[in-house]
Order: sequence, then structure tokens, then C-alpha cells
Amino acid sequence: MSKILLLNASPYGDRSRGHALAMEVCSTLLARDPATSLIERDLGPMSHQPIIRDYADAIIGRQDHGVPAFTLSESLIRELEDSDHLIITTPMHNFTVPAALKLWIDYVLRHGRTFGNRDGVKFGLLQDRPTLVIVTSGGAVAQPGALQPDHLTDYLRDVLATLGISNVRFVYIEGPADEAMTAARRVIQGDPVFR
Ligand SMILES: Cc1cc2nc3c(=O)[nH]c(=O)nc-3n(C[C@H](O)[C@H](O)[C@H](O)COP(=O)(O)O)c2cc1C
Repeated sequence: MSKILLLNASPYGDRSRGHALAMEVCSTLLARDPATSLIERDLGPMSHQPIIRDYADAIIGRQDHGVPAFTLSESLIRELEDSDHLIITTPMHNFTVPAALKLWIDYVLRHGRTFGNRDGVKFGLLQDRPTLVIVTSGGAVAQPGALQPDHLTDYLRDVLATLGISNVRFVYIEGPADEAMTAARRVIQGDPVFR
């Protein structure tokens, strides 16, 4: 059975435009293969689980994966490991990922668990899988003429690559106009995996 993991980093939860587009994609995938299941994780509540000293000590001290400080981290990693398709929907917040998604990253990227390090070069320990990142923003980000810096796209691409996930495409809903949604939908319709 195939599993889709949908991570939603918008503070608007299921009222966000990114979530609406992600659900359109999920409906298509579910209709294509009825044996597919969908796991949805709203990352909003992550903001109440900041990185604390116990977790930092466990990371820096290379503690055993089973220690209590890794409980949340382990459950997020297992959820990711279990997925065949990953969809991340995230707003841009001040040119980069919102804090909720950054926390998910800090809990999921763990040396010796999800990535290794050979001669200072990090490499992923997870299976690659088709991944779609839907980015929503108040203004232009990726289209020609965008005037603001984009510290989200390359950052998130590097994070996913460090986990071993490089089969990644980014789709942008740039600005509040309906046309932004239509343009993003058109890009997805051209994608062989997520259309
Ligand atoms: C704290 C904060 C920072 C933001 N920073 C940016 C930004 O740097 N660039 C931008 O285009 N929009 C920015 N926005 C607008 C959000 O990207 C926009 O609200 C979001 O895309 C809405 O999409 P959603 O409905 O999927 O959550 C910001 C919004 C908030 C709340």
C-alpha cells in the first residue's frame, strides 16, 4: 500500500491556499490508486515544541536513538520513512521557511539516524521518494521580476537532499490573486508524478 505524507506548515492550517492545492493533488493520487493512504501532519503545533536543552544534549552527545529526548524526533522520522510520496505545503515567512517547518527540520535531520557524514560531507540515509513542495507567498518569489530574496527554495532543497530526498519539485502560489492558484495548478498538471 502506498502512503502519502502531507506536511502543512501554514498557520492557517486547512484554510491555507497551499493546503487546498495539496488536497487537490492528494485527491488525484488517491483516485488513481484506491489502496493509497494519506497521513496529514499540521506543523502548526510544532511551535509549542521548541528545541530544548535535553534534545540538544542528546544530539551533541550522540545519545542512543531510544532515549526519551528523541521521542518526538523518532515519531516524525518514522512517519517520513513510512511515506512513498511526500508533499510539503509551506508559506514563505520573511524570505524563508516558517518557524514550524524549521522545527520539523531540526527534529528530523539527525546525524547517524537520517544522515551520515563522510570527510565533512553530509549524505542522506533515507530512501528517495517523489516530493512536491508547494510554496505560498504574499508577493512574487520565483517568477521573473521577483524583487525579494528567496532563502526558502535552495535551503529546503539542501535539507531534503541531506536526508537523501532529491526527487523534488517546487510549485509556487505567488501572491493572493486567483491567477496565482491557476498558474500553480498548471505547473502540477505538467508533472508526470503529481498530476
Ligand atoms: C510572519 C510572516 C512573514 C511573511 N513573510 C513573507 C515574505 O517574506 N514574502 C512574501 O512574499 N510573503 C510573506 N508573508 C505572506 C505569506 O507568505 C502569506 O500569508 C502566505 O503565503 C499565505 O499562504 P497560505 O494561505 O498557504 O498560508 C509573510 C506572512 C507572515 C505571517
